Amino acid sequence: MGLYSSSRALLASTLMLCFCILFLGVHGGSRRLYVVYLGDVKHGHPDDVIASHHDILSNVLGSMEDSLDSMIHNYKHGFSGFAAMLTEDQAKQLAEFPEVISVKPSRRCRATTTRSWDFLDMSYQMPNDLLNKGRYGEDVIIGVIDTGIWPESRSFSDEGYGPVPLRWKGVCQVGQAWDSNNCSRKIIGARFYSAGVPEEELKVDYLSARDLDGHGTHVASTAAGSVVEGASFHGLAAGVARGGAPHARIAVYKILWGRDAGGNDAALLAAIDDAIHDGVDVLSLSVGGFSDNSFGALHAVQKGITVVYAAGNDGPSPQTVENTSPWVITVAASKMDRSFPTVITLGNKQKIVGQSLYYQGKNSSRSIFRSLENGGLCTADDLNGKDLKGKTVLCASPNSPMGDGPLLVFPQALRNVRNGGGSGLIFVQYTTDGLTACEGITCVIVDIDYGKKIKEYINTTSSPIARIEPARSITGKEILAPKVAAFSSRGPSPDYADIIKPDIAAPGANILAAQGNSYAIKSGTSMATPHVTGIIALLKSLHPNWSPAALKSAIVTTASVTDEHDMPILAEGLPRKIADPFDYGGGHINPNRAADPGLIYDIDPNVYNYFFGCTATKTSASCNKTSIPGYLLNLPSISVPYLRYPISVSRTVTNVGEVDAVYHAAIESPAGVKIEVEPSVLVFNAANKIHTFQVKISPMWRLQGDYTFGSITWYNGKKTVRIPVAARITIHDFFADVA
Ligand SMILES: *[C@@H]1O[C@H](CO)[C@@H](O)[C@H](O)[C@H]1NC(C)=O
Ligand SMILES: *[C@@H]1O[C@H](CO)[C@@H](O)[C@H](O)[C@H]1NC(C)=O
Ligand SMILES: *[C@@H]1O[C@H](CO)[C@@H](O)[C@H](O)[C@H]1NC(C)=O
Ligand SMILES: *[C@@H]1O[C@H](CO)[C@@H](O)[C@H](O)[C@H]1NC(C)=O
Repeated sequence: MGLYSSSRALLASTLMLCFCILFLGVHGGSRRLYVVYLGDVKHGHPDDVIASHHDILSNVLGSMEDSLDSMIHNYKHGFSGFAAMLTEDQAKQLAEFPEVISVKPSRRCRATTTRSWDFLDMSYQMPNDLLNKGRYGEDVIIGVIDTGIWPESRSFSDEGYGPVPLRWKGVCQVGQAWDSNNCSRKIIGARFYSAGVPEEELKVDYLSARDLDGHGTHVASTAAGSVVEGASFHGLAAGVARGGAPHARIAVYKILWGRDAGGNDAALLAAIDDAIHDGVDVLSLSVGGFSDNSFGALHAVQKGITVVYAAGNDGPSPQTVENTSPWVITVAASKMDRSFPTVITLGNKQKIVGQSLYYQGKNSSRSIFRSLENGGLCTADDLNGKDLKGKTVLCASPNSPMGDGPLLVFPQALRNVRNGGGSGLIFVQYTTDGLTACEGITCVIVDIDYGKKIKEYINTTSSPIARIEPARSITGKEILAPKVAAFSSRGPSPDYADIIKPDIAAPGANILAAQGNSYAIKSGTSMATPHVTGIIALLKSLHPNWSPAALKSAIVTTASVTDEHDMPILAEGLPRKIADPFDYGGGHINPNRAADPGLIYDIDPNVYNYFFGCTATKTSASCNKTSIPGYLLNLPSISVPYLRYPISVSRTVTNVGEVDAVYHAAIESPAGVKIEVEPSVLVFNAANKIHTFQVKISPMWRLQGDYTFGSITWYNGKKTVRIPVAARITIHDFFADVA
């Protein structure tokens, strides 16, 4: 667990995405929370399902009384199973029952807008865009599984909303500081899951769906916040705040608790089970770090619910992407065309521009020159014994922060400077993705070049000083955008090597959205996820009969791989490079094109059963992987991780555009690989709406190679339908070098 160092705990309050530690101690006979999965619901009425769970559990525990005492959650709507406190022996015994598919310890984890919608070309001024065609998401129900919600925020006003959709079967669970009035025509349902959560986390939180942390409110308002004029973070990023689907209804499922926003698998699954029952259309999950509980999302998808998950904040290292099962949409984060330049003036009058969220508070003293100190890497040791009182400290990020992404390194320096009594922090880092508003301290990030200039100045001056001015907000075409954010987790997926993950990128760096009664700027794939959720809600409103796979196909095949200057989209990282499918899947989301994608790659969700339980790291007995590799699924992407001999993969496309259409294939083969498509022309008409084509993928050399990337695009003169392809040539079927 080396990677999950204590530094991450620091981060949880602002930039979320989780890590895990086992839920409770692991001593011999002690009990811990386990999740027991039983597959489809077989007993009809929920009470009968619960009774059958107790039958199984009391067989192991000896009595119904013990079973009642040990049971924490019953999953009874979308799928069958339960969470219970068990010893390791009891868990093993349960796993022996023929009806039990898996028994796994529940893990403990943490959770991981103005401009962004205009940046995606979705404004009220454009009558033909997805926002208008999708009727603002009217009557689409978005389930948000997170830290809860702040119902008084202006972003959740229900003014002008029609009645709650009749099909809604959810509840408004009352609790601390939350009564039935707190649900409305906007927030139509609220539930919370405190069972199995440590007492000390519940104690500091509201025992209700009310959001202590702010993460869930931010996420919900990004997906579906109503239109709010004049929102800003202390004047920064000012403008109209609204969600992607501003008229969509929100159903809240609170599973993350306390100041660190901790949760566990058992509660997540209970929320998904209820959401399936309640009738949500889309589920938004800006959470991560859970163990393999992908069966919850699988059942949701099989009921027609699209499940959108965050990819994680552990980039730019490869193989860090999470939540990667083929049936969900996994979202990477990008940085949009907004920046927050912040001028630093040195004692020698030299001006240096960094980036920050530093604002002039009403009561704070005006920016003044403060003495400047070089703190090196600003580890606790580096700063030990230094008097930093009232000073601005220059800190450098480590040269090789592998493992610890940029969102993790900065908070350590901040903590150490703060503990030393410093007033300011100038942090030298290769990226400014993910700015933090550092309460009580002025902090700014500068490029490595500028960092060197400041160091030189400190070195050659007897009493170096610097002044930091409040940030300004700049938006528009002059800023190179979008760019995959440095912190965004990268593929290939450690769990599913034979599919491309993440699926799509959306804005997730420095996003303004609701928090409590005001607005805050946060960064993370947690913020990118609700952008995709909102767009899926609009697409769902426009195409109510499309399956989750079809909706995913629409956003992936229409995504952008170049910016509006026709320059390739970059991925921030070490080094910065042209983005590839392991950074952004199909590319950067393009909602208006997704509204009318031309062709879709659809999947019957029952086909996913062949893949369920099959991860590279944890293969369960029920895994069907040996029979079929993931690249044979009809996904809008192809990844072949072990290419030794020519292989043939088939794909099926359905015409959802003009009835008469002729599409031609354009192929971009990955380096070292030859791709042929047969047939290379598809003719659609009233009688032929669906076509299957073969993709032959051949290695050109005998080589122990590395991933290279290409694409297959169908075009008809008006529409282009593009899917990414990744392939790695191999001689041996094992791999140490997997970057
Ligand atoms: C929510 O309920 C609390 C009482 O529990 C009340 O004070 C508050 O005004 C309500 N908020 C809304 C938005 O109705
Ligand atoms: C600002 O100062 C006024 C008067 O000293 C005080 O009442 C108020 O609480 C202060 N506001 C903040 C945000 O500190
Ligand atoms: C600053 O001075 C130290 C020695 O005093 C030296 O090691 C370092 O390279 C200097 N740094 C710069 C940026 O000039
Ligand atoms: C494995 O695939 C078979 C079809 O061959 C399917 O019936 C079964 O349900 C799958 N296993 C699981 C665990 O879904």
